[in-house]
Amino acid sequence: MEGKLVGRTALVTGGSRGIGKAIAEGFAKEGAQLVINGRDIKVLEASAQYIRETYGVPVLPIAADVTDEYQVKMMVAEAEAFGPVDVLVNNAGVHIASSFLEYTFMDFKNVIESNVYSVFHVTQAALVHMVKREYGRVINLASTAGKWGSRNQSAYNASKHAVVGITRCLALEMAPHNILVNAVCPWVVDTDMAKGFMSEHSKALGVGEEELAEKMNASTPLGRLIKPREVAGLAVYLASDDASYINGQAWTVDGGYTMI
Ligand SMILES: NC(=O)c1ccc[n+]([C@@H]2O[C@H](COP(=O)([O-])OP(=O)(O)OC[C@H]3O[C@@H](n4cnc5c(N)ncnc54)[C@H](OP(=O)(O)O)[C@@H]3O)[C@@H](O)[C@H]2O)c1
Repeated sequence: MEGKLVGRTALVTGGSRGIGKAIAEGFAKEGAQLVINGRDIKVLEASAQYIRETYGVPVLPIAADVTDEYQVKMMVAEAEAFGPVDVLVNNAGVHIASSFLEYTFMDFKNVIESNVYSVFHVTQAALVHMVKREYGRVINLASTAGKWGSRNQSAYNASKHAVVGITRCLALEMAPHNILVNAVCPWVVDTDMAKGFMSEHSKALGVGEEELAEKMNASTPLGRLIKPREVAGLAVYLASDDASYINGQAWTVDGGYTMI
């Protein structure tokens, strides 16, 4: 088999759906063997089977909640036994919209735990092994929300700013170990999460969902949302040897919506 990732093993959290699944497919096309994660075992196993059959690479599905330190330790140990894990994609995440004054502490905490503490748990567990092997790639799914402010999603933006911050600090700490750490920052990608937050935002703004979708499309240079595979291409590049001097960057994927 030929491909830029032949001989590599990648662990993609939240690899059962959406952007994570597209990244897993992008890696599989380039010959990587995969560990994919999510909580819903049925969806996870169906995706693993689909990727195995379509791309002919080994895929290990591991159901685990990435906010739970113990489950993460078990997941990384199992992945290492299958792997070892050369590439980690911290992709699992959630979005809950609310105006700041109406956020419940539970929702705010859920977003921070799911999007930030998860990155802490999984990355720390995986880095121990990468450091020993003096090789690794860590790719964190942040967002344009990690670079700017947005109405009605202060928890989400705070979490993604944190992911960008962790990426930059780890890039400095890990470079001496030949481990590169980058973040990917997409604008709105057409996934279940986007459908959820479009619906939440339309309620918060008092605008119909269709009208909101039309306005969002019209506001972008390409006139449409991002497709998950359009994020996956960048992740494949960052995981490959082509990106061997790329470190500590937060890559915007927004079709030119912003120039930051
Ligand atoms: N869609 C966008 O517009 C957009 C834009 C910028 C950045 N992002 C970021 O990109 C990443 C993926 O987003 P997406 O749109 O693909 O989301 P999605 O369609 O909702 O998929 C989320 C994935 O994460 C998993 N997941 C969520 N919480 C988890 C947990 N605690 N433990 C384990 N798995 C968990 C889900 O599986 P289970 O539900 O089975 O657990 C699923 O596989 C997120 O970090 C998101 O913030 C998304």
